[in-house]
Amino acid sequence: MRLTRTSDLWWKNAVVYCLDVETYQDSDGDGTGDFAGLTQRIDHLVRLGVTCVWLMPFYPTRERDDGYDITDFYAVDPRLGTLGDFTEFVRTARDRGIRVIADLVVNHTSDHHPWFQDARSSRTSKYRDWYVWCDSPPEDGPEGVVFPDVEKSVWEHDETTGQYYLHRFYKQQPDLNVANPAVRDEIARIMGFWTQLGLSGFRVDAVPFLLETDGQEDADQLPDPHEYLADLRAFLGRRSGDAVLLGEVNLPYPDTAKFFGDSESSRGDELTMCFDFIGMQRMYLSMARGEAAPLAAALRERPAAPRDAHWATFVRNHDELTLDKLDDDERAEVFAAFGPDKDMQLYDRGLRRRLPPMVDGDRRRVELAYSLLFSLPGTPVLFYGEEIGMGENLAAEGRQAVRTPMQWTPDKSGGFTAGEGVELPNPVATGAFGPTKVNAHDQAHDPASPLGRMRTLIERYRETPELAWGDYRVIDTDDPGVLVHLSSLEGGAVLVLHNFSERSVTASVEVPGLRGGRLLTDVFTGDTLKSAAAGLVDVALDPYGYRWLRVNTPLDDPDRATAV
Ligand code: GLC
Repeated sequence: MRLTRTSDLWWKNAVVYCLDVETYQDSDGDGTGDFAGLTQRIDHLVRLGVTCVWLMPFYPTRERDDGYDITDFYAVDPRLGTLGDFTEFVRTARDRGIRVIADLVVNHTSDHHPWFQDARSSRTSKYRDWYVWCDSPPEDGPEGVVFPDVEKSVWEHDETTGQYYLHRFYKQQPDLNVANPAVRDEIARIMGFWTQLGLSGFRVDAVPFLLETDGQEDADQLPDPHEYLADLRAFLGRRSGDAVLLGEVNLPYPDTAKFFGDSESSRGDELTMCFDFIGMQRMYLSMARGEAAPLAAALRERPAAPRDAHWATFVRNHDELTLDKLDDDERAEVFAAFGPDKDMQLYDRGLRRRLPPMVDGDRRRVELAYSLLFSLPGTPVLFYGEEIGMGENLAAEGRQAVRTPMQWTPDKSGGFTAGEGVELPNPVATGAFGPTKVNAHDQAHDPASPLGRMRTLIERYRETPELAWGDYRVIDTDDPGVLVHLSSLEGGAVLVLHNFSERSVTASVEVPGLRGGRLLTDVFTGDTLKSAAAGLVDVALDPYGYRWLRVNTPLDDPDRATAV
């Protein structure tokens, strides 16, 4: 008999919360957030219902890419604290039921990393082969720079040794050469080090780039990238049974699904979770159009994750809100609806805005998005500040617009720091979404506030195992504004409806297996409604409204709800 709902699959109904130590809470008044400050804020995370914190890079860095350019993989950036502060945080979080994972950024290092310093010193240096070099950029080499505003090529000429090195991201981030076994061993050592200090896994940065060896002379030394990823997962599993790999893979669905380990050559055991970039982008298209169809189509197209894997869902992450998987017209629609000014857009592919300002602070539309986050199948991942409805600050450069200090109180710095006149990592948001209007303190005891509402959504999500553990199907309705899905598990079922339109609607929904005259209970209000005829239920929804309805009696044939 197979095990289906063992508690070691903790990540299946986790609530992941991404934060940057630098911008979360400063404890010593120097203007930079630190581990000691973060540790003081654990109660906020516990009350919110977070079960897993994802730490953005906290390692020593040159700060060319907000910490994603690392100069030492085995240390904590002194501005943020010490290894001691780090372990105190992990220990305290664990004690309060929160696991901690962190960014694993091993596609590249900083150009100031000692390995690269050595590598570029001569063609015969010890670390030369840890990076990717060529005499002239190969024709079949990788194409496409990630930061097109600054970089024109992925190859940079290095004066000292007269060769070019590969950098997928900024030129200050030379790519490591995973075809080199010594590099692969080192990556495992890095993972081993941090799991030994208590981490429960990693958010793996830029996975497809990490595994890519196109155009490299020694590409054949890496027999199969998926096999390598499976090796890393196996290594992690040996070191720490509950550890996960949450992967950043922004590719079309069939390609992304391969990273779960379902390709023939792999052992079917690679990333534990992959972010659903496509579902996220289609959700915005649905919101822009007031129509359920784009998101419904994504949910139907999305390959099922293997049994012990899961998709990870999100409303926005720490980068630009990328719309790269929409076509040009669709992207233009989302830009027009949610970020019409050039300054709100980034790299022609995304938005550097947070959701509340995008919808002019319309609470109904904001809640719709978070109800989707917690009710659609997949592990929800929040970005700090979403729980209180923070906005962006466009005065900050590029992606930094959405990485402003967390707003704890109505103070000038949002209670982020007690320091006067100190320099902050990014400017605090201002105006309608600044700290006087939006802060955790004022919302903490108000169930109707964004924070109160987010807590309720999280509570209901955790109380409704069908959502995280069950099978689901998207159900057609007669109203184009309404998305309906049914999640079922062992005879229990929840019918979930979202109204993307600004109209009040009554949707007629055909629920397979539901008999006539059966009760459904609204999990938020406790109100009940009855199925009219066999298999049919009429549900009223407010403009941008949503409802999660528990089907009180088992469906006749729950197996019918397994196919999408
Ligand atoms: C990932 C990160 C991004 C970073 C890049 C390079 O895409 O999400 O913030 O700039 O990798 O490490």
